[in-house]
Amino acid sequence: MGDHSCNGTQSSIKALSSDPQLFEDQFDKLVTDLSERDIVDPSLADALTRLREVLVYNSPLGKRNRGLSVIGSLRDLLPPTQLTQDTVQQSLVVGWCIEMLQGCFLVADDIMDGSVTRRGQPCWYKRDGIGLDAINDSYLLEASVYRLLRIHCRKQPYYVHLLELFTEISFQTELGQSLDLMTAPPGQIDLSRFTMDRYKAIVKYKTAFYSFYLPVAAAMYIAGIESEEEHNNAKLILLEMGEFFQIQDDYLDCYGDPAVTGKIGTDIQDNKCSWLVVTALETMTPEQRAELEACYGQNDDACVEKVKALYNTLQMPKLYHNYEEESYQRLQKLIACHAQNLPHSVFLNFAKKIYKRTK
Ligand code: FPP
Ligand code: MG
Repeated sequence: MGDHSCNGTQSSIKALSSDPQLFEDQFDKLVTDLSERDIVDPSLADALTRLREVLVYNSPLGKRNRGLSVIGSLRDLLPPTQLTQDTVQQSLVVGWCIEMLQGCFLVADDIMDGSVTRRGQPCWYKRDGIGLDAINDSYLLEASVYRLLRIHCRKQPYYVHLLELFTEISFQTELGQSLDLMTAPPGQIDLSRFTMDRYKAIVKYKTAFYSFYLPVAAAMYIAGIESEEEHNNAKLILLEMGEFFQIQDDYLDCYGDPAVTGKIGTDIQDNKCSWLVVTALETMTPEQRAELEACYGQNDDACVEKVKALYNTLQMPKLYHNYEEESYQRLQKLIACHAQNLPHSVFLNFAKKIYKRTK
């Protein structure tokens, strides 16, 4: 009796909780699953303490849009009567898996990009005593994804779909990261590398698959939607959104406020094939191109300032805002034509979160 009324109260409180709150409440339990469950060897205690620190520093402090999109999309895909507590719980876990995969990528990416801050704090590898040991921590975050899926979703009919989705999308992201890095070799400035075609390939693979297709595809599989056609329709729209999201990331790398974005841009110093440099190259004079050639990709504040001044002369903020408007209109059309059987709200909710963002 006592137990029943207690559960009743808890479930009505739960029903009243918002998804961000439910998502937040899961995290500590998942850290416990990962660092305490099924691991009985006392000699691992120090490693498990490290795992906890890595998870806490690198998974929960972002905007959480990717993670929250799993439950958000699922609510759009299934009527409330078909959404059981267990399914909600599983979608929250899968959301955290995406946040941990993102943590894995960012810990490694910050080393490769020589970044200094992330999410308003020092990059993990920059912390005292961490350094390149962060490479192993990145792998721990990746392994955590698959341990959580196994613990929480192993018995579900969609388990293999999720495993294939996470492995395939990790591979695509790694290919995208390869393209990003090889188009930006340190000390080798060759502006002819920076074409719009190369740019689009980099951002599709390094960002759009894992940030946009992954959360919605995961929700579709959890909802029992397996059809390749439906997945391809969703992918078409979500990859377009992902491309725009990375264009914003590139814009904010130069024009964002680090106090708001939580990170200090490094694209100019890192010789990156950024939307800004690709677009600027399309409009600049031969003299401006020669100046860019001399200053881009140099780890030197005066050079970085010269590149930024050139971007201002070329009115990059205006070009970017025009592009943002065009992209938004294009996306609305894609949703109208290609969402087909999928509820438009899945895509519109995403679009609302990303357009006009400042962080
Ligand atoms: C960030 O782009 C890039 C990514 C999130 C993809 C990184 C992918 C890897 C590091 C693959 C490594 C995989 C394993 C398993 C270790 P960005 O540098 O433009 O974004 P930023 O401005 O947030 O740094
Ligand atoms: Mg980076």
